Parts: sequence; structure tokens; C-alpha cells
Amino acid sequence: MKIDIITAFPKMFVGSFTESIIGRAIKNKIININFINIRSFSNDKHKKIDDRPFGGGCGMVIKIEPVYYAIKSTGVKKKNKKYKNFYTKPLVIYMTPQGKILKHKLILDFSKYKHLVIVCGHYEGIDERIKNYVDEEISIGNYVLTGGEIPAMVLIDSITRILPGVIKSDSIKNDSFFNGLCDYPSYTRPVVFKNHKVPDILLSGNHKNINDWRIKKSYNKTIKHKIDSK
Ligand SMILES: C[S@@+](CC[C@H](N)C(=O)[O-])C[C@H]1O[C@@H](n2cnc3c(N)ncnc32)[C@H](O)[C@@H]1O
Repeated sequence: MKIDIITAFPKMFVGSFTESIIGRAIKNKIININFINIRSFSNDKHKKIDDRPFGGGCGMVIKIEPVYYAIKSTGVKKKNKKYKNFYTKPLVIYMTPQGKILKHKLILDFSKYKHLVIVCGHYEGIDERIKNYVDEEISIGNYVLTGGEIPAMVLIDSITRILPGVIKSDSIKNDSFFNGLCDYPSYTRPVVFKNHKVPDILLSGNHKNINDWRIKKSYNKTIKHKIDSK
């Protein structure tokens, strides 16, 4: 999968794409990440990309022109309508707190595309006319961060880990939300830590009973999660 990240702060991504599972997915060419700096498309001699908001008010707004040309530079021609072969066309995603909340179902859908273009805002956000040039507006939750870079990392991480060849498929299938349930509780050595003991059933060697226990725990955790997230 090709991923273009449109940002004014590409250095913020250092570390998250060099280490661990995502770093390996890049090395193994499962994903190919490319940074496009919004400043490269600024006409300003100081490479300024923001300006004061029309109508007054605080903060600075990222101008539409450099973002528009940055999106165009990725090869995007027009919005990706869900017609035939749309998974082979680039999907442009704008990270914004006002977007659809990122959920497992959306991640599954995004993971089918061959090319994602992810646009990161900053300051007060991007000129509202950005809506004319993106296919999806995605939020990682109902709170506001300083920029779209951390949300983009969250999106890329969650998509990458379910791509074939990144993590063993058995392990992904047991993960929370995959089958609509929360994962069961996991334990490892030592058997006792500060008076907290691993449940006896997991040490019993009876795989049928262990499986039944895990299913029951999975359901209980899911009900609790649903109540807590209301
Ligand atoms: C400070 S925020 C702008 C917030 C905007 N003024 C508002 O209240 O909706 C700057 C940028 O951070 C990103 N951002 C902040 N919070 C986010 C979230 N929860 N999900 C996705 N992107 C977010 C967006 O790209 C946004 O354009």
C-alpha cells in the first residue's frame, strides 16, 4: 500500500515509522510512506502556509492553495466515488476532530485501498474549502490535538497491522473488535505477582475449559466496554 502524508511537520513522524511492527512493514515493502511538505507548495518567499481567519478571531488558518497543490502532486485527479475499481484509486483522508470517528469497520475498509493520501491540519485547521478535495474526514476521538500528525500515525498504525504479512492473522482475529467482542484477558509468568495469582483454569491444561472461560470473559468485557463507552 502506498501512503502519502501531507503535512507541514514531517519530522514529527520520525520514530513511529522506524521502530517495531510498522518499521518492519516499511522495510518489507508492505507499506511505502512518502511525505509531502505543504510548505513546498507555498508561493510565499518565507514558505508561509497560514493566514488570519476572515471575519476575525484568534489563531491562524492553513491556506487552501498549498494543500490543494500538495494533494494534486500525489496524482489524485478527482474525488474517489464508490464506483467500479474504487479501491485501486487514491483515497484522500483529512484528519479532523469534526470527522467520522475512527472505528474498526472503517479501518477494515481503508485497508483495502492501494493508495491513501492523508492530509494533516495544524493551527486552527485548514481552510474549510478543503472539503471539496477530500473523500473522507476522520477523527480519532472527540477531543482536539495540536495537529493531524498524531491522528495520522494512529490511522496508519491501525491499518498497517491488519495488512497481510504484518502480524500473524490468528493473532489479529482474536483482537478486540475484530469479531465484535473485546479480547479475553491474557497472563504470562510469574504465576503469582504481589499476591495476584493467574486464574487456576489457565494452568489446568484443559483446553476446552480454557476456551469456554475465555469466551465468557470476552463477553463480560464487551458488555462492560459497551456500558463504559456510553
Ligand atoms: C487544533 S486542531 C483544529 C481544531 C479546529 N479549530 C476545531 O475546533 O475543530 C488542528 C488540526 O489538528 C488535527 N486534529 C486535531 N484533533 C484531531 C482529532 N481528534 N482527530 C483528527 N485530527 C485532529 C486536524 O488536522 C486539525 O486541522
